Amino acid sequence: MGLRAEDVFRPGAFPEYTYISRKSAISDLPYEFRLMQAIKVSGFLTSLVGPSKMGKTILCEKVIGFEHIVEISGADFDEDTDFWKLVSAKAGLAYEGQFASEKQIPSTSDKYTKKETFSLTKDKIIEYYKENDLVLVIDDFHYAPEGKRMQIAQQLKDAIRRGFKAIVVSLPHRADEAIRQNADLSGRLSLINMEPWEVDDLKEIAKLGFGKLNISIEDSIAAQIAVESLSSPQLMQYICLNICTMLEMSGKEKRQVCQEILETAYHYTTANFEYGDVVSLMQKGPSTRGKSRNTFRTVNGEEHDIYELIVKSIAENPPIMKLKFEDVKERIYRLLADDSKKPSPQMLRESLAKLKELLYGREDIFKVLDWKEGSLYILDPLFLFYLRWGGAHQ
Ligand SMILES: Nc1ncnc2c1ncn2[C@@H]1O[C@H](COP(=O)(O)OP(=O)(O)OP(=O)(O)O)[C@@H](O)[C@H]1O
Ligand SMILES: [Mg+2]
Repeated sequence: MGLRAEDVFRPGAFPEYTYISRKSAISDLPYEFRLMQAIKVSGFLTSLVGPSKMGKTILCEKVIGFEHIVEISGADFDEDTDFWKLVSAKAGLAYEGQFASEKQIPSTSDKYTKKETFSLTKDKIIEYYKENDLVLVIDDFHYAPEGKRMQIAQQLKDAIRRGFKAIVVSLPHRADEAIRQNADLSGRLSLINMEPWEVDDLKEIAKLGFGKLNISIEDSIAAQIAVESLSSPQLMQYICLNICTMLEMSGKEKRQVCQEILETAYHYTTANFEYGDVVSLMQKGPSTRGKSRNTFRTVNGEEHDIYELIVKSIAENPPIMKLKFEDVKERIYRLLADDSKKPSPQMLRESLAKLKELLYGREDIFKVLDWKEGSLYILDPLFLFYLRWGGAHQ
């Protein structure tokens, strides 16, 4: 039997058939090599940092291999978690336990069973990791409580000196102080920064995968999907999988990805994402305490306030993850009717700052953008994709 689409395109798991190795633009070396090189330096902690959904976890799994990787998430920690207890449990070692031993009562022939307790020492755990060639990956380190991160860094610092191997994975700017800016660790860190994916690398996922499924796809179509994937291999995998499902359900004989199905495939793909609340919070903006906001008239004759316009402008073509202030302004002005009032640059700057504040006061899923140094950064590619193709979009 041939391969199934869900085995080939795997947006949520290790993509065995569509794994693409790419080079870091800065060092011109493949990421796999960089990570392997870093792991081999004894006494150093590896810090892997990169934007959301770029393949950080998959890279660790690829390089270390499933037999040798021990994965912990920052979310596994709360304030009271015992670091070594967790590290041993995840490696399948019992940290504390009881065993029964038979003892003889002195000068009699009677025996009794004594229950003894034990707990592993940190040294034993480190030894176990070394003997079995295990590498600890602390993934999504930014999810560990802030106060806990320093303690973890402290434990790691001591352990890596004794040959324990560990990688800390996090989003940019979110866990810096505990690892990258920790003076105790300076000179003992291997830093790897993962950059966003280029269109050419993303295209390879589609070409490789559809090739394995005997479905033909033109280069220009693969390129369009790659652009919509917003530098995320995960989105690329999602869209390709949905295209396969659509092709299967259409029952057509000819197995080819054609232009006509792309937009529908994008739209269907957004059904997997839950950003409805984020979008409506952004459109509403901060509370006005009952006062209504000024609105502006668009070329389509609709009335929108500044926050609704910001959301619309982000979703415009071309899809871009970093917009300069001027770009946002231009996009908004382009949306408005010629004779409509225009929001002033100052009003726009203030609204962007307030929007960021509003989102940062909420749970992690709301942290989809950042506004700093005169640029608007979209932090989550899935969010921008949702904005472009989700909701009532047809
Ligand atoms: N090298 C690759 N080749 C092909 N597809 C990949 C590659 N790396 C990642 N992917 C795809 O992207 C998905 C997400 O990757 P991964 O979970 O590693 O991202 P991440 O950066 O760890 O994301 P998060 O920030 O959510 O932790 C994978 O399940 C896979 O489908
Ligand atoms: Mg990850």
